Amino acid sequence: MTTFPKAAVIGNPISHSLSPKLHKHWLARYGISGDYVALQVTEDALEQTIRDLPGQGFVGINVTLPHKVNVLQFADQISDRATLIGAANTLTFREDGQILADNTDGYGFMANVKQYAPTWDPKSGPAAIFGAGGAARAIIVSLANAGAPEILLSNRTRNKAEALRAEFGPRIKVVDWVHAGDMLETATTVVNTTSLGMTGAAEFKVSLDALQPGTVVNDIIYNPLRTAFLNKAEAAGCVVVDGLGMLLHQGVPGFERWFGRRPEVDEEVRQAVLA
Ligand code: ATR
Repeated sequence: MTTFPKAAVIGNPISHSLSPKLHKHWLARYGISGDYVALQVTEDALEQTIRDLPGQGFVGINVTLPHKVNVLQFADQISDRATLIGAANTLTFREDGQILADNTDGYGFMANVKQYAPTWDPKSGPAAIFGAGGAARAIIVSLANAGAPEILLSNRTRNKAEALRAEFGPRIKVVDWVHAGDMLETATTVVNTTSLGMTGAAEFKVSLDALQPGTVVNDIIYNPLRTAFLNKAEAAGCVVVDGLGMLLHQGVPGFERWFGRRPEVDEEVRQAVLA
């Protein structure tokens, strides 16, 4: 019997997802017979969908909003990093019926910054994070693991930043949103995890005047690819990294597990996803 492995991304809404383009590009590039589709799944249908997919030839799924936290309850095994982050973006359906849950968002963040700022050392000084949503959680966990000595965290809704500090410990210092720009005085790594600056959203208005030349600055937004935040950082002499690579790299572990080949993240796949 020939096998024809399939994978999917599930979410609601899902039509905007770039994951099908990403995985289909890799499948074509490596000559792998397989498929990758986008499935719109409501919260009511989540459990049944996850139970049904393995029987329909699916070997795994990526999970996006709003299901990243809820899928954990259907997993038989949860990776350490997914446990720490408290959410999963990658499920693997094993042949024995077990469901493995993993979170590759923090990995994607780290791999992206390392690729486009090769001399970056997360241990070199404090990291400053704007925003305290799901993406910030994954990035904080990976920066803490990578040895960032201090993580300065500022969010419009201060409570959410305080909650992350309570969970992840005193290495996190909460800075009021009114003074968010002050984080930049000492930071050697700066990340925007808010939706500010995304096409259709409000502008990023925090002052970036305190940015130091040579600081590694990443915006996780990739629509637009070049945000005003990154342009200002570049003008200040910073090393800037756009957000597309995080999306591309977070897809690598799932693709490798499902289709048996570790895919490359390079200019060719960037162009394929942007096309
Ligand atoms: P994700 O899971 O992708 O991180 P999210 O959980 O919706 O998305 O988080 C969005 C982030 O953008 C939050 O930090 C949010 O701040 P609040 O916690 O105060 O909502 C931030 N954000 C969104 N709109 C904002 C705005 N107009 N000003 C400041 N921060 C904003």
